[in-house]
Amino acid sequence: MLITTAMGREVEVTGDYSIDQNWDQIPSADHERWDRLYARQSKILKNRACPEFLEGLHALELSSGGIPNYEELSDRLEKRTGWRIVAVPDLVPDPVFFEHLANRRFPAASFIRDEAQLDYIEEPDAFHDIFGHVPLIANPVFADFLAQFGKVGVKAVDLGALQQHARLYWFTVEFGLIRRNGDLKIYGAGIASSKGESIYSLEDDFPRRPDYDLMTVLRTPYWNDDIQDKYFVADSFQSLFETLSGDLMPLYKEAMRLGDLAHTDPRSKLAETA
Ligand SMILES: [Fe+2]
Repeated sequence: MLITTAMGREVEVTGDYSIDQNWDQIPSADHERWDRLYARQSKILKNRACPEFLEGLHALELSSGGIPNYEELSDRLEKRTGWRIVAVPDLVPDPVFFEHLANRRFPAASFIRDEAQLDYIEEPDAFHDIFGHVPLIANPVFADFLAQFGKVGVKAVDLGALQQHARLYWFTVEFGLIRRNGDLKIYGAGIASSKGESIYSLEDDFPRRPDYDLMTVLRTPYWNDDIQDKYFVADSFQSLFETLSGDLMPLYKEAMRLGDLAHTDPRSKLAETA
């Protein structure tokens, strides 16, 4: 079928939205931009990302130069955790996304941001999806957590609890922090792929950093177009994974019944103090 992406491109996709990465046709300027982003971000994350992220970055050879060939990268990833990467043109519909994750396939954008968006891009590109997400998928416990998230997602869609489930993704996979020997470290891809947020999330006094609690996360709204005002902190990937065991739908129903927790808009808060 033919779809129009958020960036206004028309793309032919299959039922699961996968496309050919067409790695051979990627312009050298795009590869060069990846290299610059990689060099900048890996330096920032050296003492800020959790060890599992840094280990995955190294093990998957993401620094070998240029935008990775998704097929070759998938072969390396599959040997470690059974996951593969599928190229997609853009964001995919939630039910399709959950189905991919449940089957250990990570949908990754096939395009990379342009020069004007080097520091910030709203929609996920190849740098966010591959550099930000894939290193941790090389970790067996996190890989299991992400697959379980997909399986729960399929049920959450049926229950009408998409909003609650999206919050779980947002506050863990995208913007999660983790405690390591008394320090906070980054594991969320939205943080790890952003120059500004890698520093802000750990070092700024403004955001709150509550302990991860599944029910609280399900009831907490988030901002997808601004800096975050809170980051949930997990104790370990194992404990995170364990919160997704068993039938979660009664808990999701309860979260919907209780409703959203009160929250502060970070923009109004910043405006007050300006
Ligand atoms: Fe993402």
